[in-house]
Amino acid sequence: MTTRPLIFAANWKMNHGPAEARAFAEKFLSLTASVEGRRLWFFPPAISLAALSQALQSRSDTLVGAQNIHWEPKGAFTGEISIPMVTEVGARAVLAGHSERRQLFGETDEQVARKTRNALAAGVTPLVCVGETLTERESGRTEQVIVRQMGTVIQALAAADWGRVVLAYEPVWAIGTGKNATPDDAAQIHELIRMELTRHGVSARVPILYGGSVNGGNVASLLSRPQLDGVLVGGASLEPDKWAEVIDKGSRAKVRPSGGYDLVEG
Ligand code: PGA
Repeated sequence: MTTRPLIFAANWKMNHGPAEARAFAEKFLSLTASVEGRRLWFFPPAISLAALSQALQSRSDTLVGAQNIHWEPKGAFTGEISIPMVTEVGARAVLAGHSERRQLFGETDEQVARKTRNALAAGVTPLVCVGETLTERESGRTEQVIVRQMGTVIQALAAADWGRVVLAYEPVWAIGTGKNATPDDAAQIHELIRMELTRHGVSARVPILYGGSVNGGNVASLLSRPQLDGVLVGGASLEPDKWAEVIDKGSRAKVRPSGGYDLVEG
């Protein structure tokens, strides 16, 4: 029997240069063992991709990805980094549509779709983030926003691509605020996302992660919900021991059938 993998994804945002990334990896690897069906993903700043992917090389359960890429392979785009450039230094996944990119840097649904499509074309796994702001939630538009954000990506991809895509539900009001969605809130939106995928005939294989102020204290109750296939974590992933604790507690809460898993990683 196959199952979706359990994914713990660390989004370091603008933290940890190459030396810190190497030191993190050394400590972290001594704290966690490799577990079948469990994937440990890291999104360091681009400048630390090479150092981190090298430092984690001995562990096949880990994967390193870029926080952001430009959709074009090269050209006159000052300050941008392309997919071939990040893969050259070890990235096998990319985040697309993180709310900080959408809100602080004006990333549009169309850009998220292009990044996702071109990452897939280059053999890189996209982790596509969706989520509503507080105003959107309070005005009852959560569902509408998520369906819209997913819609452009669904349109841009072929059904077969979905075996290589991971989604993350990250309510914007819960990111870095200390407020996290309750397990019920999260499970409900994950069901909505899964239904939307089903409606487009691309459902069962796509892992859906939850993100937004996940930590060692709440990860078990979140991951005990069958709708959640993992977590995307910022603040609580920055120190090796705290991150190892999140992984350990979350893994214990998630009872999964053993066996292979379907996701084809980049
Ligand atoms: P947080 O960030 O865990 O610090 O809330 C999550 C994210 O932005 O992916």
